[in-house]
Amino acid sequence: MTTQDMQLILTGGALGVEVRGLDLRNALSAETVHHLRAAFLDHGVLFLRDQQLSEVDQVRFSRYFGDPVPHVREQPDRPIPEIFIISNVEEKGRPIGALGNEEIKFHSDLSYMPRPGSISMLYAVEVPEAGGDTMWANLYTAYETLDEQTKTRIARLRAIHKHPRPQQNPPVPASHPVVCVHPETGRKVLYVSPHLTSHIEGLGAEEGQVLLNRLITHATQPRFVWTHRWRVGDLLMWDNRCTMHRRESFDNTQRRIMKRTQMFGDEPKGDLVTHPTA
Ligand code: OGA
Ligand code: MN
Repeated sequence: MTTQDMQLILTGGALGVEVRGLDLRNALSAETVHHLRAAFLDHGVLFLRDQQLSEVDQVRFSRYFGDPVPHVREQPDRPIPEIFIISNVEEKGRPIGALGNEEIKFHSDLSYMPRPGSISMLYAVEVPEAGGDTMWANLYTAYETLDEQTKTRIARLRAIHKHPRPQQNPPVPASHPVVCVHPETGRKVLYVSPHLTSHIEGLGAEEGQVLLNRLITHATQPRFVWTHRWRVGDLLMWDNRCTMHRRESFDNTQRRIMKRTQMFGDEPKGDLVTHPTA
C-alpha cells in the first residue's frame, strides 16, 4: 500500500510492518497519521529505519498515537521527561538508563499496573554488534489457535500480574482477564506472560501453574514470534495490548542505548462478565 511516498512492507513474520519513505523529523499529515494508525493496529509492531531524531521529534511522533508520560521509574534531570533511557552504559559509575544487558523474559509492558502500558516506542541510538535483539509474540494468534476446550476453560479467568522487584508493584496487585479484548480492534488476546504474570486467580496453586505454563508455552512458539535485529536509527513501536516481547542478553562490554516513550491505556477488559454483581 502507498500513501504519498509512504510504503508499508510486511515483515512476513508473525506480526510487524516496516514503513518506508517517511522522515520523522517532519510533522506528518492527518492522512499519513491515519494510515499509520491503521497499519499499527493491524500488525502490532511498526518500525522505520534510518531516522535521525531529536527527543522532541520522538515525542512529537509519539503524540500521534497517544499521550506519552514520564516512566514510573523516574529518571530525574532528563531534559525531555517523556523520554526514558534504556541502556547498559554507565557514566561516572552510574547507569545512564534502565534494564542493563541481561535477558528480559517475555512480558507486556507494565502489566503489573492496574492500567498497563498501551503503546511503547524505542529509538535506537547505539546497538551492540551481536545480541540484544528484541522479539515480539502475537497474542491475537496465540488466542485464536487455542483449542475450543481451553478457550472455554480460560474465558472467565483472571490472573495476578507482579513485577519481580516488590517495590515496583502497586499496593493492591493488578488483576487482569486472561483473555482480554483489545479496546480498538475488538479482537481477543491471550494476556499472560512469563515475566510478569504471577498466578491465575481462583485455581489451586499447582493446577493454576500448570495451566499458566501451558498457555505461555503455546503463546511463545516460534511461529507466533518475530525478531527484530536493531540498527542505529530504528524507531519501533509496539502495542502491548496484543503483543508481548522479550529481549536477548548481550555482552556487557558492548554499548546499547535506546530512547523510550510510553503511552498508557485503560484497564484491560475481558469479553465476559467475570464478577457478576448480585
Ligand atoms: C522495554 C523493553 C526491550 C529492549 O523497553 O519495555 O522491554 O529491547 N525493552 O530494550
Ligand atoms: Mn518491555
